[in-house]
Amino acid sequence: MTRTPVNVTVTGAAGQIGYALLFRIASGHLLGADVPVRLRLLEIPQGMKAAEGTAMELDDCAFPLLKGIDIFDDPNQGFEGANVALLVGARPRTKGMERGDLLSANGGIFKPQGKAINDHAADDIKVLVVGNPANTNALIAQAAAPDVPAERFTAMTRLDHNRAISQLAKKTGADVTDIKRLTIWGNHSATQYPDIFHAEIAGKNAAEVVGDELWLADTFIPTVAKRGAAIIEARGASSAASAANAAIDHVHTWVNGTAAGDWTSMGIPSDGSYGVPEGIISSFPVTTKDGAYEIVQGLDVNEFSRARIDASVQELVEERDAVRELGLI
Ligand code: NAD
Ligand code: LMR
Repeated sequence: MTRTPVNVTVTGAAGQIGYALLFRIASGHLLGADVPVRLRLLEIPQGMKAAEGTAMELDDCAFPLLKGIDIFDDPNQGFEGANVALLVGARPRTKGMERGDLLSANGGIFKPQGKAINDHAADDIKVLVVGNPANTNALIAQAAAPDVPAERFTAMTRLDHNRAISQLAKKTGADVTDIKRLTIWGNHSATQYPDIFHAEIAGKNAAEVVGDELWLADTFIPTVAKRGAAIIEARGASSAASAANAAIDHVHTWVNGTAAGDWTSMGIPSDGSYGVPEGIISSFPVTTKDGAYEIVQGLDVNEFSRARIDASVQELVEERDAVRELGLI
């Protein structure tokens, strides 16, 4: 039986993450090796020509699963019929820009995109926001889409999750595939909390295997939380291929499910679990099945973790209050 292609909209398609992302979507890594896709690239007018160049290269790959590419600079057209939307394009912070200016500039992008998703996307739309500040941009888009179930709007903390697995593997000499049940809590920012107290390394408790709270507090957590800045410092540009890889992982896991005995981290609208105020888009441990996710319940949160989760959540509350004041939600 031939399957109907899935419509995948990617914003910021001509940017550096876009360039690392589109070829992997087209080759079947986002949804599955047997799922045909149609790409809808959304750019601003200045990005259209470069997006056309990328589309030419996509054509030149003759990907068996790629059933069409369209390019738009109008969000209403870009999100028409979208089943999956990857919101990558955002306004970066520039010199002298205050946080309020950044939130306001991004509101100008994510509010109309949320409305366009509301009005034009397919009923089963799933949204991943990558563009920073990702959690709060996701909140802005979600608030502008009242007809779409709120839980369809998610923000990316999978890059942080993958970074944490990799750092833990290096420290313990374990293979990355031996590490399960790691959690990123809170915001995709330097306040995020990578939690290993429930993580397992080859079936053993990760915190016990590490056995060094100082390393946790002074090395592991800051290394993971500030990795984005370290990449910018080293590369002269923010992470791109690893961010694209994490976006692929996030959607693939959401659609295809977490492995038995494991979970992942996703920025999702809080239902009040673990004392995180309802409605803010915060990262949680989640399992996924049949295209839906659930927060892992019943984890003990020790004092060490509580203080760090609360600090990151507090930052999200402040961002929410700031965008509320700006009339963006
Ligand atoms: P980039 O500047 O290379 O590309 C951004 C693209 O978005 C540009 O082509 C630009 O024309 C386009 N764009 C801007 N406004 C748009 C709009 N309204 N509609 C459609 N397209 C628009 O940036 P990049 O390196 O690809 O990064 C994109 C975003 O992802 C940044 O905000 C970055 O901070 C963020 N990021 C997030 C994570 C994460 O883990 N959540 C990781 C890395 C980067
Ligand atoms: C990252 O985590 O690599 C990015 O969010 C960093 C950034 O500021 O773009």
